[in-house]
Amino acid sequence: MNVSLGWDWRRALGALATVAAIAWGPGAASAQDIKLPLYAADGHVGVTSCAGSTCHGAVEPFKGSNVLQNEFVTWQREDKHSRAYAVLLNDRSKRIARNLGLENAHTAKLCLDCHADNVGADMRGRQFQLSDGVGCEACHGGSRRWLGTHVAGATHEENIKAGLFPTDDPVLRAKLCISCHFGVDSQTKFVTHKIMGAGHPRMPFELDTFTTIQPAHYVIDDDYRKRKKTPSGVQVWAIGQALQMAAMLESVLDGSRNRQGVFPELVVFDCHACHHQMSQEIDLRFQGRRSVALPPGYPRFNDANLVMLRIIANRIDPALGQRLSQRTTEFHKAVAGSFDAYQGKARELLAVVNEMSRRAAAHGFSGDDMRALLTGLLDEGKNGELFDYAAAEQAVMALGSIISAMKTAGAIDNARLEQMNAALERCYAATADDELYRPADFAAAIEGFRSLIR
Ligand code: HEC
Ligand code: HEC
Ligand code: HEC
Ligand code: HEC
Repeated sequence: MNVSLGWDWRRALGALATVAAIAWGPGAASAQDIKLPLYAADGHVGVTSCAGSTCHGAVEPFKGSNVLQNEFVTWQREDKHSRAYAVLLNDRSKRIARNLGLENAHTAKLCLDCHADNVGADMRGRQFQLSDGVGCEACHGGSRRWLGTHVAGATHEENIKAGLFPTDDPVLRAKLCISCHFGVDSQTKFVTHKIMGAGHPRMPFELDTFTTIQPAHYVIDDDYRKRKKTPSGVQVWAIGQALQMAAMLESVLDGSRNRQGVFPELVVFDCHACHHQMSQEIDLRFQGRRSVALPPGYPRFNDANLVMLRIIANRIDPALGQRLSQRTTEFHKAVAGSFDAYQGKARELLAVVNEMSRRAAAHGFSGDDMRALLTGLLDEGKNGELFDYAAAEQAVMALGSIISAMKTAGAIDNARLEQMNAALERCYAATADDELYRPADFAAAIEGFRSLIR
């Protein structure tokens, strides 16, 4: 079975040096009770309501305003979210719909819940249009209550009380993005292996990288820092890893979606463990991994996020790192046991991952931390833990995230940044095509960083 699972975020990732992010301490609103925009009770007025030329629809950024005011133009012209609905009308979507027995992709709730702002009919204002795709309110929350007051100059806190979704909070942002870039529980929305099998692309995700490549319709300046949370890119990365892993484990524990006949839901397994050619020398490539400890011939849980979390845990709390490593190996091994034992191990691992979320949200990552994380990443590579494509891909995104955060924190100078970006380019090249991926080439490319960490 050889399907193209390729993906092109590298092309979108521009110069790393320009990424803005600043240290952010603990004290995040735990905000458990804040609902995702799609599931909250506030009406959605529609993108047009935000796009007035004196509001967010200016052609050029406004001078002397807190916000750019040309957000709409950026979103409409450059941001793929504005085209997310249109995608449902293309040939690929038609084929997916046909394979799934859906009448149309663009009328199916299954697709619209992620490719548009698909709130109930009673929640839609007069100017609301589904065809606007993933519009402002799909991320910023239904604005019926806050539209009036925010125009009149309410504070960020007041807006949040009135239903604005706090996209600046890294934990809540992670939940928001992951709800579409992976899914939320089976009752709501999810891309299953069945949907992938019908033709949906693979959906790799990393919160900091994706925050960076979404064309920015905001600037983080002094004024922004006064009003909002500005976590470092490394912290955003760490939080994203933990929440993504938690979402995957929650899906394993969700009895209503996890079994497909005799198989577990395959979407949380390493795609390339099954989808690679067998005929060529490079594709007969089993190599035992210490942390996985499974014999050849078993599908592996996609543990890319777990490898990243281990690196983070080993740095911020070695005892926690130990526990995470142990639970990870037990979980992998349980794939070869009974279904109940497997779920039991998933539950134990989830408890540690949830602790990681809390710790990552409370840790202010220093320049020394960042250097140690880079070294940790290289060491995992050396130990063969970045052997699978999914892990290599996460490692490359992690490298980008850590390097740009180091630059922002003043932990590296421009000359070093240039050298690191050159080394990063070699890692991009080694992971550019998942079908042609050669673990040994990637291992060599990532090792090129070793001499640059000081
Ligand atoms: C859980 C959310 C979710 C669901 C459900 C979902 N998608 Fe997607 N879809 C995404 C995301 C996120 C991407 C972008 C992946 C990327 O590029 O990183 C995407 C990408 C796509 C693409 C490729 C777009 C491009 O620019 O090439 C197509 C086509 C597509 N989806 C069709 C569908 C269809 C048809 C359905 C319904 C059967 C569906 N999707 C259901 C989230 C979802
Ligand atoms: C895919 C999610 C997403 C979509 C869609 C989106 N935004 Fe944003 N927006 C963000 C994120 C993330 C931030 C940065 C964090 C923050 O400031 O809250 C942001 C920030 C902003 C800011 C804050 C700027 C500041 O200085 O405080 C404004 C204003 C804004 N967006 C307006 C819009 C408008 C108008 C639209 C629609 C045309 C839109 N956004 C669509 C995610 C999104
Ligand atoms: C309501 C669902 C939804 C939410 C919420 C959402 N996205 Fe997306 N996102 C999508 C879909 C669907 C696509 C694919 C659109 C396409 O290909 O045309 C996409 C595409 C993207 C892309 C382009 C990927 C590529 O391959 O070029 C980036 C970057 C992105 N999203 C970042 C984010 C970030 C960051 C957040 C959180 C702040 C977020 N998204 C929240 C649904 C969503
Ligand atoms: C345990 C093995 C296994 C894993 C892991 C797995 N798949 Fe599959 N996949 C299969 C099998 C079996 C089929 C059905 C093949 C067929 O119909 O000929 C399939 C079919 C597909 C197809 C349709 C192929 C075709 O030729 O029609 C796609 C696309 C796909 N998978 C994508 C993925 C993605 C993306 C992932 C990871 C998120 C993944 N798969 C993980 C075993 C796996």
